[in-house]
Amino acid sequence: MTHFSIPEILALVERANEISSTSHLDQLLVQMFDLILEVCGAESGTLYLLDQSAGELEFRLVRGSTSPNLVGKRIPKDVGIVGATIRERRPLEVVDIVNDPRWYRGPSETAAHRVTKVISFPLLLRSEPTGVIQIFNYQWAELELIQLLGNRMASEVEQAALLESSRSYSQRLEALVSIIGKIASSLDRDQILQIILEYASVLLDAEASSLFLVDEQTGDLVLQSASKTQTADLSNIRVPPGKGVIGHVVQTGETVLVADVTRDERYYKGIDQNTGFATRSILAVPLRSREIKMGVSEMNGVAEHVIGGVEVLNKRVKTFTSEDARLLETLASHAATVLQIADLYNSTNELFHSVLRVTSAMVDARDRYTEGHSQRVSDFAVAIATELGLPAEMVRHIQISGLLHDVGKIGVADAILNKTGALTPAEFAEMKKHPTIGANILKEVAVLKVEMAGVLEHHEKLDGSGYPAGLRGDQISLMGRVLAAADVFDALTSDRPYRKGWDVEETFEKMINGIGTHFDGECVHALIRAYTKNLVHTQHERERLKAQ
Ligand code: C2E
Ligand code: SIN
Ligand code: SIN
Ligand code: FE
Repeated sequence: MTHFSIPEILALVERANEISSTSHLDQLLVQMFDLILEVCGAESGTLYLLDQSAGELEFRLVRGSTSPNLVGKRIPKDVGIVGATIRERRPLEVVDIVNDPRWYRGPSETAAHRVTKVISFPLLLRSEPTGVIQIFNYQWAELELIQLLGNRMASEVEQAALLESSRSYSQRLEALVSIIGKIASSLDRDQILQIILEYASVLLDAEASSLFLVDEQTGDLVLQSASKTQTADLSNIRVPPGKGVIGHVVQTGETVLVADVTRDERYYKGIDQNTGFATRSILAVPLRSREIKMGVSEMNGVAEHVIGGVEVLNKRVKTFTSEDARLLETLASHAATVLQIADLYNSTNELFHSVLRVTSAMVDARDRYTEGHSQRVSDFAVAIATELGLPAEMVRHIQISGLLHDVGKIGVADAILNKTGALTPAEFAEMKKHPTIGANILKEVAVLKVEMAGVLEHHEKLDGSGYPAGLRGDQISLMGRVLAAADVFDALTSDRPYRKGWDVEETFEKMINGIGTHFDGECVHALIRAYTKNLVHTQHERERLKAQ
């Protein structure tokens, strides 16, 4: 027999449907809970939610006589009548609580003296308990009806909770993506490390974070960087191989969550002793990377190995979760890739510059009277470009183009290149091929596209009398005009087998005379300014400086 008529029950279901349309978790809980209280004719009750991973029940809502500051408190999931409800997965009715052997004198004890009887029923989701509702001093024990409403509540709560957590999870993912973007925008190792640590703490709501890399020689883990650096000099902080939570992570490649370091034997005190930081909880993940070798194009079969690890310390609210672990793993995996790209970039850059140095030295070595010519032309061209206020990127292209401007002389016969006297017209015709030969060599090198113009056009003249194309005025690229001034300045002030080097004054006089026919006036004046500021030195001046 039920206290409610069929129409009343239908009306209740209708109200439950209405409540379900709210997607806000807290509102949903309150309204469903109040509906259940109403159905029981009761004024006091408690809603617990089960935290399965912690094995605890949390007071989520408290109505009536029981004190509201219980909300958020936790009790073990297996104690009391509430625990029995979880175990038995069915409604329990207890009419004399205080004398029931199962009664748990937990945090609600002081309020319990006013309570005589209780209906305690589980919130079941696909038959699994997700919480418990207790209704005190009820008028009607409509167990089936409230169990129905309870289960409805459980499934609505699940959906709302999922929505809410995915909302914040997707926010965290968004944050993660933007952090990865920031990391990838730098090629500077130290800057990358700093960004990783700064944002790892923020993303994981941790008090501090640190990053360790394996020292290949000793196997030690070396602290590279830490977000809390005020206290100590970190440069010598090392963890012996396999020691500490971090050592375990690096050795096994596993992610480790430590909720309380005092209860984990792996925890290594050495670092806190050095930094003065008090570690309570740790989430640590490995940094993995593939080894990339220069000159080896085959990347298959290059095994990933652990190069270090990242730790975040002391979650500010509650404990690190498996969601935190996933986020940090993703961050670490991208961080390792970016670090590797930075290393690769730096070694490629080094390689590139040594190839440039070797190439220009080779050119100068073949032409034994022009030793150091390429380097000086490059220096002068940089000085001109800087005086002209060209962007740094362009200055760099001009610098490289200067180093390579005569690379085509590699294709000119020794007999012509090293002839001590004047060239015959036929010989000079051969010599004039060097800009084209040089440009053809550079055409094969994708990264030197921009530099090609300087190599091809450094012997063009403004009046169209130059070679190889006879370009005029603005048809000659700015790079070509800069290099022409730099090239002739060095050629004239340097000794040649067929003549001595000219004075700087004479040289500038000759170059000023050539403005408009041979040279771009702005380039010549920029060079004169740079020379007056003592920013450039001729071959003779360099020799004198070296002799001192
Ligand atoms: P380079 O010696 O590096 O000279 C570069 C450019 O500076 C020359 O381009 C020219 O414009 C100018 N220059 C160099 N020395 C003199 C000079 O004594 N007087 C004048 N007025 N201008 C000078 P250019 O003429 O197209 O020559 C290109 C390259 O051909 C030279 O490079 C050099 O390697 C070679 N070369 C030119 N003339 C002779 C020569 O008479 N004998 C030999 N052995 N090589 C020559
Ligand atoms: C229990 O379930 O044992 C505790 C009941 C109460 O809140 O008083
Ligand atoms: C450890 O990994 O055991 C040490 C953690 C720390 O203090 O950084
Ligand atoms: Fe040249």
